Amino acid sequence: MMGGFDSWISRSVECLILSFFLLLQSTCAQQAFVSIRCCAESTFTEPSTNISWIPDDGWYSNTLGCQNINKPVENYQGDKIRIFKGDLAKKWCYNLSTTKGHEYLIRGTFLFGDSVRTSLAILFNVSIGVTPIGLVNGSDDSVEVEGVFTARNHHIDFCLLKGTGDPYIYKLELRPLNVLKYLQGGTSSVLKLVKRVDVGNTGEDIRYPVDPNDRIWKAESSSIPSSLLEKTPPNPISSSANVSITTAVPLQVLQTALNHSERLEFLHNDLDIGEYNYNLSLYFLEFIESVDTGQRVFDIYINNVRKQPDFDIMADGSKYREAAFRFTANGSFNLTLVKVSDKSLFGPICNAYEILQVRPWVQETNGEDVNVIMKVKDELLKKNQGNKVLGSWSGDPCLPLVWHGLICNNSINNSPVITELDLSSSGLQGSLPASIVKLAYLEKLKLSDNKFTGVIPEFPASSMLISLDLRHNDLMGKIQESLISLPQLAMLCFGCNPHFDRELPSNFNSTKVTTDYGNCADQGSSHSAQGILIGTVAGGSFLFTIAVGIVFVCFYRQKLVARGKFHEGGYPLTKNAVFSLPSIDDIVFKSIDIQNFTLEYIEIATNKYKTLIGEGGFGSVYRGTLPDGQEVAVKVRSATSTQGTREFENELNLLSAIQHENLVPLLGYCCEYDQQILVYPFMSNGSLQDRLYGEAAKRKTLDWPTRLSIALGAARGLTYLHTFAGRSVIHRDVKSSNILMDHNMSAKVADFGFSKYAPQEGDSGVSLEVRGTAGYLDPEYYSTQHLSAKSDVFSYGVVLLEIISGREPLNIHRPRNEWSLVEWAKPYIRDSKIEEIVDPSIKGGYHAEAMWRVVEVALACIEPYSAYRPCMVDIVRELEDALIIENNASEYMKSIDSFGGSNRFSIEKIERKVVLPPTPTLTDPSPDILQALTPPQPR
Ligand SMILES: *[C@@H]1O[C@H](CO)[C@@H](O)[C@H](O)[C@H]1NC(C)=O
Ligand SMILES: *[C@@H]1O[C@H](CO)[C@@H](O)[C@H](O)[C@H]1NC(C)=O
Ligand SMILES: *[C@@H]1O[C@H](CO)[C@@H](O)[C@H](O)[C@H]1NC(C)=O
Ligand SMILES: *[C@@H]1O[C@H](CO)[C@@H](O)[C@H](O)[C@H]1NC(C)=O
Ligand SMILES: *[C@@H]1O[C@H](CO)[C@@H](O)[C@H](O)[C@H]1NC(C)=O
Ligand SMILES: *[C@@H]1O[C@H](CO)[C@@H](O)[C@H](O)[C@H]1NC(C)=O
Repeated sequence: MMGGFDSWISRSVECLILSFFLLLQSTCAQQAFVSIRCCAESTFTEPSTNISWIPDDGWYSNTLGCQNINKPVENYQGDKIRIFKGDLAKKWCYNLSTTKGHEYLIRGTFLFGDSVRTSLAILFNVSIGVTPIGLVNGSDDSVEVEGVFTARNHHIDFCLLKGTGDPYIYKLELRPLNVLKYLQGGTSSVLKLVKRVDVGNTGEDIRYPVDPNDRIWKAESSSIPSSLLEKTPPNPISSSANVSITTAVPLQVLQTALNHSERLEFLHNDLDIGEYNYNLSLYFLEFIESVDTGQRVFDIYINNVRKQPDFDIMADGSKYREAAFRFTANGSFNLTLVKVSDKSLFGPICNAYEILQVRPWVQETNGEDVNVIMKVKDELLKKNQGNKVLGSWSGDPCLPLVWHGLICNNSINNSPVITELDLSSSGLQGSLPASIVKLAYLEKLKLSDNKFTGVIPEFPASSMLISLDLRHNDLMGKIQESLISLPQLAMLCFGCNPHFDRELPSNFNSTKVTTDYGNCADQGSSHSAQGILIGTVAGGSFLFTIAVGIVFVCFYRQKLVARGKFHEGGYPLTKNAVFSLPSIDDIVFKSIDIQNFTLEYIEIATNKYKTLIGEGGFGSVYRGTLPDGQEVAVKVRSATSTQGTREFENELNLLSAIQHENLVPLLGYCCEYDQQILVYPFMSNGSLQDRLYGEAAKRKTLDWPTRLSIALGAARGLTYLHTFAGRSVIHRDVKSSNILMDHNMSAKVADFGFSKYAPQEGDSGVSLEVRGTAGYLDPEYYSTQHLSAKSDVFSYGVVLLEIISGREPLNIHRPRNEWSLVEWAKPYIRDSKIEEIVDPSIKGGYHAEAMWRVVEVALACIEPYSAYRPCMVDIVRELEDALIIENNASEYMKSIDSFGGSNRFSIEKIERKVVLPPTPTLTDPSPDILQALTPPQPR
């Protein structure tokens, strides 16, 4: 009796110790659990399991994607799922800490929310690291995806990959497996759970705390029935049998089983389609005390293959035995345990089994690249919190789906590396991320159209960079020698950084590296990029190595300010003054979508070039109509023209980047079959030339206020060009036939075929061939071949004289002293006899003060010495003043008219004496006007 008591005590102590140990184990185990409830508002402990759940706001803080779950059962009331939306992101990952070398189980649970169910098909993959592990079908009420892996790193990603519909998740659990060894430490594969069945259990699923590793043992009944066994169904049995050894399965799971006198059959027809390898683990516990070795013997068949003959649970004397098998299956699984009838007394039993699919571990992106790109992301995030592109960067940069803006290549040891990074137009600011230079395999880097500041970080000599595009930012500093020396570098674009020093280092080799040299033209489509390459190669030294630098100082304005004519407190007269003009704000830093039309489309639009509306040096211009009804002017390069390729490329490049309401926009182009065609909107009111002294002028006189507003519009368009993105674009062919009017009589400057970037300080090389149109040509440019924006100013001055006088700039049918408009008008203006030069058809229709202002501007523009000519921006201000004066006068006249008063003729003329700028002390180029009149390029 005492012994009995003793043994009871000892057993109780044992029990206590055991339960204490179990408690300790489970508490400790739970500490290593990561249990995430997506969209939960706070941490909470679930009473049924004592598992502590944390919200996922550490990974995703946005609550917009949170959705209540109201179905399928009330248990979920108040619970939420997270739905991931976003057009840039291709995957959404949860990054969880792990201990390298340890085995883990990770499990995502996907329940649908109400809105999820209403959308059509939702189908998305889930991955562990970059290894896809399962597919979630939104049509299923609840999906669990579980995998087992050995940590190769200090963290693991669990990712939802964009499929069809928006992916969603309810909860995510990470469990260390401690002593359990599913993979034996192997890192070459991931196991995907297919089934984990607590055979014979008719109650609740078993999980933590019964299973300290929180595996979920399903009380699955659906796998049992088999038509064969319906007559004598297997018996669910349970017992309180115990074992003294540690088992891989909780005792409670082993304590239920199925038992049959002949055979047990377990069928699963829902395995993945395709040849996969599977691991099967079987767990047996003999709980009939009296059964001895050799009394329960059975064969184990998997998919009709006998994998194990004569299996005896008691073979090694223990009541507990495990069996593990590997097999290949495609779609279905048949486990059959058959009694060995001649040897065995009892039929087979089964207590639990697990089926895991073996998936090869997919190699992640090159570790160094991952570290670097993560650093790049962190550096960018400092100044760009909430940036959409950065926000979409989650998980591995290249796999299974590549990040927005990245291109990866698989060539290095089967591990992808980042070869291209395109962050253009991503709204990024701050300095360029310094780590970016450490992307060892990066070949193309595009950071254009952002607001990056600071300097270009130094690339190491080992960099494999081929092309670098930094256009349209606000970078400072200059191109370093180390960058130019990179062995592979072939393309360098840094234009449109107003504060960037464009000087190239001495080791710059233009044969090896193509630069845009400040070119702001768009290179968006591959087509136009090719165009630029061709253009720059063809243009070569011509484009970028121009001898003399021009300083953008408005000497003339300085004088005007001194004369009190310009508003005080104007723009600071620094070299960069031109950059601070308000018009710079108008610049649209966007790649503009210019259409590439087919020749067939052009032929249809122009009705096979039926209506010729003009001819120029470039070729012919036809009228056409696009399918959407828009009227267009189609400029076709003449087939005979030997020149023009360069102009075509040039115009295409410029027009694609330049947009202003006073410039004719380019709608599209066509490059098929050696044709060079540009498509513009049709300007229904024709050209200024035609309106002043062409056919249209005979029908209706262009009144003075309209002339003035056209002049102002054209001046604004040219101002935009001259200040374009901090680098001046020179039109080179300003003339009245290139100033067109739309249906509102709003002026638009056309024909950029000869436009060029202004040469800058430091440009060196051969001089330009002189271009332009006789009568408009700047004599200084003609004699020195030294191009500047002031050459456009001269031509514009001639246009103003045309507007004032209604005369063509050059007419050899007039008396010899009137051939040149400039030479004819000058003496009259100097003698203040402007009524002599004013177009007779507008006589009396103008306010004298307004006219005087325009005349003065025109005179200043046609100064032989370019330094004395005003800048376009000054001209705009003068013309604005003139227009205000004119409009006020018109209002005044109207009010007088309404009283039956006099007409405009009565306005008193104001006598003005023209103040001429002093003669320059330098030797005047003393241009021979007749030389200038000789057209170098007859048009
Ligand atoms: C949860 O913990 C409490 C207190 O520690 C304990 O009383 C309760 O039995 C536990 N519940 C489960 C399901 O383990
Ligand atoms: C994931 O976690 C690891 C370690 O905690 C960290 O180094 C890594 O930067 C994290 N990655 C992301 C994307 O948060
Ligand atoms: C998703 O589930 C629905 C309903 O169960 C089924 O009809 C559909 O074929 C499934 N889609 C895939 C791709 O498995
Ligand atoms: C899931 O991944 C597999 C390859 O692992 C792919 O074939 C399938 O198209 C993916 N499904 C979806 C919906 O993304
Ligand atoms: C399952 O396998 C057993 C043994 O090979 C076989 O007798 C039985 O017909 C199979 N069941 C099914 C449904 O294929
Ligand atoms: C410039 O580059 C070309 C092509 O890479 C090369 O052939 C040439 O020798 C280089 N010139 C100089 C001066 O380095």
